[in-house]
Amino acid sequence: MKIPYNEPSYGAAEERAILKALRAGTTGGNGAITKRVADLLKEKTGAKYVMLMPSATSAMEVALTAAGVGPGDEVLMPSFAFVSQANVILSCGATPVFCDIEPDTMNMCPKDTARRITKKTKLLFPVHYAGMPAKINAFKKLARDNDLLLFEDAAQCLLSYQGSGPRKRHLGTFGDAGCISFHVTKNAGCGEGGALLVNDQKVAEACEIIQEKGTNRTAFLRGQVDKYTWVGPGGSHVLSDLLSALLEVQLKRASAMTARRVKLWDRYHSGLEELEALGLIRRPVVPKGATHNGHIYAFRARTPEEQQAILEDLRANGIGAVFHFQPLHVSPYAKAKLGKQDELPVTMQAAETIIRLPLYDGLKASAIDTIVAAVYRAAIQG
Ligand SMILES: Cc1ncc(COP(=O)(O)O)c(C=O)c1O
Repeated sequence: MKIPYNEPSYGAAEERAILKALRAGTTGGNGAITKRVADLLKEKTGAKYVMLMPSATSAMEVALTAAGVGPGDEVLMPSFAFVSQANVILSCGATPVFCDIEPDTMNMCPKDTARRITKKTKLLFPVHYAGMPAKINAFKKLARDNDLLLFEDAAQCLLSYQGSGPRKRHLGTFGDAGCISFHVTKNAGCGEGGALLVNDQKVAEACEIIQEKGTNRTAFLRGQVDKYTWVGPGGSHVLSDLLSALLEVQLKRASAMTARRVKLWDRYHSGLEELEALGLIRRPVVPKGATHNGHIYAFRARTPEEQQAILEDLRANGIGAVFHFQPLHVSPYAKAKLGKQDELPVTMQAAETIIRLPLYDGLKASAIDTIVAAVYRAAIQG
């Protein structure tokens, strides 16, 4: 591909930080560097407690286990989502119940969610897709009215916010727990990595234990107990200091990288305005009150056939355009494991028409212009 879909932005500062950590011998999990980076992320997100983990998947697993999600419980989540979410629900012994999305943002629809709440429902688990907020206040109300937990998959949302003034908050901090991913494809990352964001001290303490193999090692590292021991169930969900060293540099660069991405996102958006006016595509929608991080630029073709034709045309021209999530409710595993699922027409329509265009820190503005011109040609040819 002449223009790949994604490219991480690692430079000399990242190399120096890893070497420094390596030479200092600080490579294990949950060490001094990890603590420093967790503090930095607390500052950036406003979350009271931040735990760095090997992935957002780990963060979900820890949060669900700490919440006691288990057999007999139902968790409401979108079908247009990353597979980890459904897997962690199943591995807790609970059942994922798939909800439809809204046509404009492709985020979980509160109305569709509300009608799927039963006596078994324990948790609402919306995704903030592409760094764009789901209707989080509607979900908060639904959770409050029905006495449910609310977790947010904010994997794609570093430096994305909802609200303004004193009500402006980082995505992933509205509910009982939220996760962010630092996977190589994200706006800032360390190859593989994630964070769990929590506002409640008791929840955070329960998560720390699960994160550290079921021990109170984190309290020991803080000097709160004089030796650490097995206190409950747990797994191994700590981030190595070596990767934290890389992440620290990336987080310090995150504001600048996000500003650049948003600029490129805006360039796509104005470049494609006329094509939308011609009725040939639908551009993405920024929800009211959102400050997004330019994570994904995804537009929609009119039909599945046009999606395929445009993707093929762009790829033939060396442009790494891609589709996205394959709906989980019609996947072979969901059918085998969960049986027949309700139809989710908006989800199917979104998956069959979405096209994501290349977007990364090192992408040149001139490349956006080339891609926009190629999209016009492909869409007009149909
Ligand atoms: C919406 C969403 N949730 C969860 C994940 C999983 O993140 P990780 O790879 O850090 O586990 C991803 C990763 O792409 C994602 O996009």
